[in-house]
Amino acid sequence: MKQIPFAKVVCDGNELAYIREVLESGWLTTASKAQKFEKEFAAQVQARYAYAVNSCTAALHLALEALGVGPGDKVLVPTMTFTATAEVVRYLGADPIFLDVEYGACLVNYEILAQALNDHPDAKVFMPVHYGGQAAPLSSADGRGLLDICRQKGVRVVEDAAHAFPAKCNGHMIGGMGDVTCFSFYANKTITTGEGGMLTTNDEQIANRVKIMRLHGINRDAWDRYTSNKVSWEYDVVAPGFKYNLPDVSAAIGLAQLERAESFRQERERCARYYFNRLNSIDCIDLPLLHVSMSDHAWHIFHIILKDDSPVSRNQFIEKMAGKGIGTSVHYKPLHRMSYYREYYGLRSENYPNAERIWKGCISLPIYPSLTDDELDYICSAISSILK
Ligand SMILES: Cc1ncc(COP(=O)(O)O)c(C=O)c1O
Repeated sequence: MKQIPFAKVVCDGNELAYIREVLESGWLTTASKAQKFEKEFAAQVQARYAYAVNSCTAALHLALEALGVGPGDKVLVPTMTFTATAEVVRYLGADPIFLDVEYGACLVNYEILAQALNDHPDAKVFMPVHYGGQAAPLSSADGRGLLDICRQKGVRVVEDAAHAFPAKCNGHMIGGMGDVTCFSFYANKTITTGEGGMLTTNDEQIANRVKIMRLHGINRDAWDRYTSNKVSWEYDVVAPGFKYNLPDVSAAIGLAQLERAESFRQERERCARYYFNRLNSIDCIDLPLLHVSMSDHAWHIFHIILKDDSPVSRNQFIEKMAGKGIGTSVHYKPLHRMSYYREYYGLRSENYPNAERIWKGCISLPIYPSLTDDELDYICSAISSILK
């Protein structure tokens, strides 16, 4: 029997060499490696500003804070996401409004957002999640993109791109399109720094606020204090900021990962193509619904959804796969089912029919660069035999 984990990092490029440079430099916290990481990341996503932080959650929090979100504000978020997307809304005393998603793609689409903006004309921010690495339809040739409608209504857009590097929407890289975009470099993500994240924006005002708030609200970062000609101790505190900077040891890993981001993506695309080819003849599952080309997708998650006529339940399927040595996961138990949000906001499952249908049957399969065709064959054969 093979043992195939759900996720596996590939860290065999320049990671060790760059970490060594950091250790030998004697400066372990945020410094030149983090600055280089920001510069190179900004260039890749074609954004004016990029700020490295210690998680995507931190980036999301900073983004909403910079947009002035506060108590009583309404922020639209999909229910089919990780709690980080909504918890940062609560950090600021604002209220998440949970939206259903399109079945199959697991994304908020134009119709769902238009309805939500009708129901909540006072919403301040919309947070699209690029589920699994497929860009939500931010822009479209017919002018019916999520950004179009938000701009018409004066709603700001903070993208949760935790899954979506590198990904494209309508020819543009995710990261340079909305007001603010937030990426995750958590250990299982498409590129990793162990823990880490990046915030990108083209808006100078947002950039200035984020730069200050990510490090205690101090108007000069530590690296600047030690490298500029001004007296190093002198700084001012202009706001009660946070401690969200990314250390150089982590940035060193990020730089090495960034060099291989597109080749990693291509390898994950190979896995996705394999799954599509082998699994599309199984009637009792739905495969991911694609609105972008295979090469515009970051392929962080490959989910299948068991239909009602599946011979086994989702949980039985997961157990049987584990019995064959194959790790799987579930993305996600929707937020309207989580006790905190459900009870605090009195949420009801019947208001989220698509998310409910997805949740009942969704399973995420292994997808990572080092997954071999032999292992993919083993996984697909296991699925066929469980569902036959
Ligand atoms: C959709 C989504 N948003 C945000 C996050 C938070 O990322 P981080 O762990 O870097 O804070 C995750 C992490 O899994 C995620 O999946």
